[in-house]
Amino acid sequence: MEYIRISRTDFKTGEKRKIILPNGRELVVFYLGVDRFFVFDNKCPHLGCDLSKYGVIIKEELVCQCHFSHFSIYSGEPKKGASKKPIKVYRVQVTKDEVVISLI
Ligand code: FES
Repeated sequence: MEYIRISRTDFKTGEKRKIILPNGRELVVFYLGVDRFFVFDNKCPHLGCDLSKYGVIIKEELVCQCHFSHFSIYSGEPKKGASKKPIKVYRVQVTKDEVVISLI
């Protein structure tokens, strides 16, 4: 499976949502409004906190509130805080009705 497609029509600005793939992998989708969707692995690379609960996006950084690791929302690189490892960022294409997430 290289892509998954989810409906975009029911996302509200500021919403975040966990998605569980058939292989058990968990992603988290953040919708910042105006077609801006960001998708990451749902587990923080520091100690595995659930980012659908503890993750927030502040300006251009994803922040895990468990121990306040900050990651670039574009590259996933750690910017400050506990994690020295990056988080995976998934490429996203937004169509009229769908968000297409590349799993590669
Ligand atoms: S588990 Fe996310 S910062 Fe520690």
